[in-house]
Amino acid sequence: MKANFQKEIFRIALFGWSGQLGSHLYTQLKKSNWSVISVGRKSSCINTDLRNPQSLLKILKSLDVDIVINAAAITDITYCESVISEPWIVNCLSSNMLSDYCYDAGIKYVYISTDQVYEDRDNLSSEKDQVFLNNNYAKTKYWGEPRQNPNSLTIRTSFFGRRSTGREGFVNYMINSISNGEKIKLYKDVFTSALADDLCAKLITRLLENETVGLYNVGTNNYYSKAEFGTKFIEKLGVRGVKYEIIDKPYSEVKVNRNVGMNCSKVEKWLNIKMPGVDEVVTSVLK
Ligand SMILES: NC(=O)c1ccc[n+]([C@@H]2O[C@H](COP(=O)([O-])OP(=O)(O)OC[C@H]3O[C@@H](n4cnc5c(N)ncnc54)[C@H](OP(=O)(O)O)[C@@H]3O)[C@@H](O)[C@H]2O)c1
Repeated sequence: MKANFQKEIFRIALFGWSGQLGSHLYTQLKKSNWSVISVGRKSSCINTDLRNPQSLLKILKSLDVDIVINAAAITDITYCESVISEPWIVNCLSSNMLSDYCYDAGIKYVYISTDQVYEDRDNLSSEKDQVFLNNNYAKTKYWGEPRQNPNSLTIRTSFFGRRSTGREGFVNYMINSISNGEKIKLYKDVFTSALADDLCAKLITRLLENETVGLYNVGTNNYYSKAEFGTKFIEKLGVRGVKYEIIDKPYSEVKVNRNVGMNCSKVEKWLNIKMPGVDEVVTSVLK
């Protein structure tokens, strides 16, 4: 049963607040009147580097928060493959430490995981389906999930949006290619249920408001290919003469599961909502 939740009395520590999802979460949580403490490498309320997780416990003790959200990670899949220990420390070990601390202190722990843990399949993967950890990023994220902590929420998700820092991302790649007059490569054999990043942050906020614990997929109501997203994006953008080709994804050294579409009926039922489809994602990303 969902409790009557007085969110204004809760304090949240948000790790990864400067990232693509974290920045939307920061804005959304503030809009919803939560008290949010930013934790990150620079310009944060609390500066810390997860590559040195020894300092985490001292920091957490000083924070006196009710909820810890961890949206920090090394998200560059190629980098995760080339540097072995750093992603294990940042994505996994520090999450395990945060989860253990939160459990002992009676604090809720929220971990942002990924659709990349799911096995390639012809239909949607639900939370109960088996995982297939094809690369180091997926492994570090899966083993960072707080499965042993009953007072935790794990969100497996994916999202699109304009990135202001870090790696380029799919939407920036399309925008940059269009402005440079370069041909866009759109893969017809790569499928996702990625949401728009701002909506993903809104849904995570709603899950918090509903005192949700456990494992939830948070994505669109069906999967779609990157080619479908790309062509709809170009059409809605309304720019003439955009050059693109629809192709299969070429071989890459780093193995990535190609269909990681998620079944989101669990979150739909819990929040009593209908998840959006690809058209709404495109509209939202173009806003
Ligand atoms: N992007 C996607 O489509 C996608 C899909 C599925 C799941 N996810 C998951 O969603 C979460 C957010 O992803 P995102 O794409 O928003 O990430 P992002 O834009 O790459 O940002 C990563 C965040 O992690 C922080 N971070 C990285 N290394 C750190 C370290 N050593 N110490 C402290 N902070 C560190 C970054 O801080 P700095 O500003 O200091 O670099 C930044 O705030 C991640 O858990 C990711 O695995 C993302």
